[in-house]
Amino acid sequence: MGKVMVMLTAAAAVVACSVAGVMVRRRVKDRRKWRKVVGLLKDLEESFETPLGRLRQMVDAVAVEMQAGLVSEGGSKLKMLLTFVDDLPNGSERGTYYALHLGGSYFRIIKVHLGGQRSTLEVQDIERHSIPTSLLNSTSEVLFDFLASSLQRFIEKEGKESISSQDVKRELAFTFSFPVKQTSLSSGVLIKWTKGFAISEMAGEDIAECLQGALDRRGLDIHVAALVNDTVGALSYGHYHDPDTIAAVVFGTGSNACYLERTDAIIKCQNPRTTSGSMVVNMEWGNFWSSRLPRTLYDIELDAESLNSNDMGFEKMIGGMYLGDIVRRVILRMSQESDIFGPISSILSTPFVLRTNSVSAMHEDDTPELHEVATILKHLGVPKVPLKVRKLVVKICDVVTRRAARLAAAGISGILKKVGRDGSGGEGRRRSSDKQMRRTVVAVEGGLYSNYKMFREYMDEALREILGDDVARLVVIKAMEDGSSIGSALLLASSHSVRTVSNI
Ligand code: BGC
Repeated sequence: MGKVMVMLTAAAAVVACSVAGVMVRRRVKDRRKWRKVVGLLKDLEESFETPLGRLRQMVDAVAVEMQAGLVSEGGSKLKMLLTFVDDLPNGSERGTYYALHLGGSYFRIIKVHLGGQRSTLEVQDIERHSIPTSLLNSTSEVLFDFLASSLQRFIEKEGKESISSQDVKRELAFTFSFPVKQTSLSSGVLIKWTKGFAISEMAGEDIAECLQGALDRRGLDIHVAALVNDTVGALSYGHYHDPDTIAAVVFGTGSNACYLERTDAIIKCQNPRTTSGSMVVNMEWGNFWSSRLPRTLYDIELDAESLNSNDMGFEKMIGGMYLGDIVRRVILRMSQESDIFGPISSILSTPFVLRTNSVSAMHEDDTPELHEVATILKHLGVPKVPLKVRKLVVKICDVVTRRAARLAAAGISGILKKVGRDGSGGEGRRRSSDKQMRRTVVAVEGGLYSNYKMFREYMDEALREILGDDVARLVVIKAMEDGSSIGSALLLASSHSVRTVSNI
């Protein structure tokens, strides 16, 4: 071998050694980084844990807080608002009614016709629209004028055979998905905005009056005859179809529950004036708080940066508006603490850029290469990550959603405990072994529940864990679509039939 050859071979060996050295060092570094991420994931799992014991403590806390909220105004973070709804629809209602539903992300307008029997319920028209984001922090005039003009267009489309041509005023139920202190079935003042709304100087305003004013200014012959929280609409719809329905929960952009309570248990209301001996109570459970809630760093940061900090703590753990943002915060933190997601994406640093429907799409991605996860990460400015990192993202979605669903199950069980339907013999009732447990239906509405299979499955699983199989078998969770809007119209119809009967 010539001298040159020897030198070349030696040089090649040196290069090979240093390349191998670089590769080994890189692999060691990668492994160290990955170990760090695995550590972060473990911390995440631990801090989001909701073991059965903790859920049971939460069930007790929900029942105790419900009681406290019924005893005195401000007695609990659960507002336990009166609704003035005592008679729920039962199928015998008649007439044609409208409902306008302002939710957190959508608004709907519907027209229903009722023929006096359940089977004759006819939804004659329905429109669903997203709420333009510019409305969220506009003014009261802009918001209500927008709603009135949408209603005007809806009615103009009805054509010639409209009700007004028959000389009857249109009756409208306003389904309003925000906390209201009701003064009657058809009036009430806004307590505060929640979710993404932040229109100033509206707290304390009568919501039904605001809408009526906007309709009058447009010369529309429509009477706002009921003001209904979305949960109460959902309960009405559930009860119309199944009289065993005693509670309703909304899992949408926000979250809340209502249930049927005995009037003598509503101690803060001296003169409830109901004929049925019970009244629907709007819990506003989004504001529930207990030291037993697994509050993490992510929840604290999210709350601090939200429009309504120190408020709606429970909603921020289970509401559709927030789950995406919790997942985003976890991914962002991981990308800040290791570079497994590549350079830190500025998109990922934008609050609420990751929506909960994307979380469910990633969580339920069943393609072997996790294509959906890759696409969504790309939109978040994280273009190319290996499969194991995509799997990690799915795991993060799982941890966040599982906690939400299990907390939701504890909330429902708390209501069941309060009304003595959890099999534990609460409220002085006898134990389930002594007394036949009754079938109990809980109406459920909202995109988070209806569109997110894993959320549903985790919630059902946790309900079985908390209640035990025997009781859980008697608790029926009934999902409904557009129930809150249709139910509000039904409620209005049933209040009319009560009035008509009592006038005779
Ligand atoms: C509101 C409730 C509403 C719930 C579900 C919450 O933010 O405070 O009134 O029922 O969202 O829409």
